[in-house]
Amino acid sequence: MNKRLLRSVREFKRPAILSPVLISCEVIMEVLMPILMSKLIDNGIKKENMTYVWIMGTLLLVCMFISMAFGALSGREAAKASAGFAKNLRHDMFHNLQKFSFSNIDKFKTSSIITRLTTDVTNVQNAFQMVIRIAVRAPIMLIFAMCASFYVNPKVALILLCIAPVLMIGLVIIFRYAHPIFVRMFKKFDLMNNVVQENVRGIRVVKSFVREDHEIEKFTNVSSAIRNDSVRAERAINFNGPLMMTSVYTAMLLISWIGAKMVVSGSMTDGELASMFSYTMQIPMSLMMVSMIIVMLVISRTSAERISEILEEQPDITNPENPVMKVADGSIDFNHVFFSYSKKKEKSCLMDFDLHINSGETVGIIGGTGSGKSSFVQLIPRLYDVTDGTIKVGGVDVRNYDLDVIRDNVAMVLQKNVLFSGTIKENLRWGNPNATDEEMIQACKIAQADSFISAFPEGYDTYIEQGGTNVSGGQKQRLCIARALLKNPKILILDDSTSAVDTATDAQIQKGFAEYIPGTTKLIIAQRISSVEHADKIIVIDNGKIDAIGTHEELLKDNEIYKEVYESQKKGGDQ
Ligand SMILES: Nc1ncnc2c1ncn2[C@@H]1O[C@H](COP(=O)(O)OP(=O)(O)OP(=O)(O)O)[C@@H](O)[C@H]1O
Ligand SMILES: [Mg+2]
Repeated sequence: MNKRLLRSVREFKRPAILSPVLISCEVIMEVLMPILMSKLIDNGIKKENMTYVWIMGTLLLVCMFISMAFGALSGREAAKASAGFAKNLRHDMFHNLQKFSFSNIDKFKTSSIITRLTTDVTNVQNAFQMVIRIAVRAPIMLIFAMCASFYVNPKVALILLCIAPVLMIGLVIIFRYAHPIFVRMFKKFDLMNNVVQENVRGIRVVKSFVREDHEIEKFTNVSSAIRNDSVRAERAINFNGPLMMTSVYTAMLLISWIGAKMVVSGSMTDGELASMFSYTMQIPMSLMMVSMIIVMLVISRTSAERISEILEEQPDITNPENPVMKVADGSIDFNHVFFSYSKKKEKSCLMDFDLHINSGETVGIIGGTGSGKSSFVQLIPRLYDVTDGTIKVGGVDVRNYDLDVIRDNVAMVLQKNVLFSGTIKENLRWGNPNATDEEMIQACKIAQADSFISAFPEGYDTYIEQGGTNVSGGQKQRLCIARALLKNPKILILDDSTSAVDTATDAQIQKGFAEYIPGTTKLIIAQRISSVEHADKIIVIDNGKIDAIGTHEELLKDNEIYKEVYESQKKGGDQ
């Protein structure tokens, strides 16, 4: 198993070591019992020595109980170790996940991350438990049983030695065939999780587009594919049983035949023959266990790799060595900034952004969809790092700030904003855990959220469902603005955050900003000219480039794009 994964065993090393030790003791007892049995037959029963029968019988019973106790204890320790290992794995993965930057998150799909944290960890947990119990038990059993059978009767033991490789080859052939099917099946499991997750998330869209049948078909296809593969793999694995039984009975027949002759000629005792039968069961059994372990490891290998991908993913945005802990003011400087999601300059999404924004200014940002507006503002709180050039906030390169400090001072209402399950108050406190009720009400008043919150029967204690499904789009946007305001930031960025709010309320929000947070630099991305026309300056972005910067009047005079947008919206308004 993967080394990186094993590091997560940590405090569960003790049970992880204890379990195989205990199981070895169990195996020794199990191998010892047939020898005691043969002595009991030869020296007790055949010689009609009842005292010997009693002694050996008691010894056998004791051995059996000790073996049982060791087995149970080993099982307990293995469960402790594997469950603890799984807990640590999940913890470590989750921990690293929290450090991921936006570009790290872009790399993995959400559903895949969930499968990795759940199913994959369970696979590895099961494999780990098997390894520390059976992977130790089977080889020890094999070796000890082999040695014991040679001790009892080397000639007859040779039969067992010959049967073992035949069985081994058979098993290898079976698993060679089944392995790729298992690997394929697990990939399909991933796909199924993906389909289910996407469906459940977008169930409203599915319904409104009447796509249920299509979705059912998609699901049926992948689940049938899993079924087919599962049947195929199991069919191959099922040859295991007959193969083992054939080997066992062949060995038994041979041993009976040769053994009987030896017993008659006096070179073997009845007891020895009986014990050889026991070993005939134990040896193939342990070989089969070995093969099962191999399957388990093969299955879990894919899972282990997927887990270590998460564990080893290096967050590409990290804190600098000596971070600046204070943001002087809300001024922003872009110095020939280039940005690309794919780290290739020729595929730049932002090209040569060069601009200065004074602290406390209100800046409107206008541009068509996909022009790069969101990408532009996401660079300021370092959600992504620039590909080339520098961005300064308060006169300091954003990469020199402590990450928490810069993100606390640059509050951003993301275009795809999210509320979390919990009360409105709990959600608002994401902005500031120590916010008083007055501060919360004040922020909500500026964001024009207070009136609708107060209208809820439970007011600020109203419970928001996961994803904010029980509030309207516009209400959600206003709550998100209030949450950002509570951070009391030096820079506030609204990425299309009033798109679902009516024009009158939008104007009220803008008015509130000017009145209550005049010192905060405000960047407002909007589709509506009315949201930005009163800004100190407006940036027009077109196709990843700054097309123009100016006031509403200036741009109306000499910017074609701005004029066009303005005219089209005015016409709509006039009608
Ligand atoms: N996470 C991402 N990974 C790769 N490419 C992305 C990512 N996000 C955006 N892009 C690409 O970058 C370009 C700019 O996208 P951006 O989101 O900045 O546009 P936008 O101006 O905010 O558009 P909209 O008005 O629709 O929000 C687009 O071509 C988009 O396809
Ligand atoms: Mg956008």
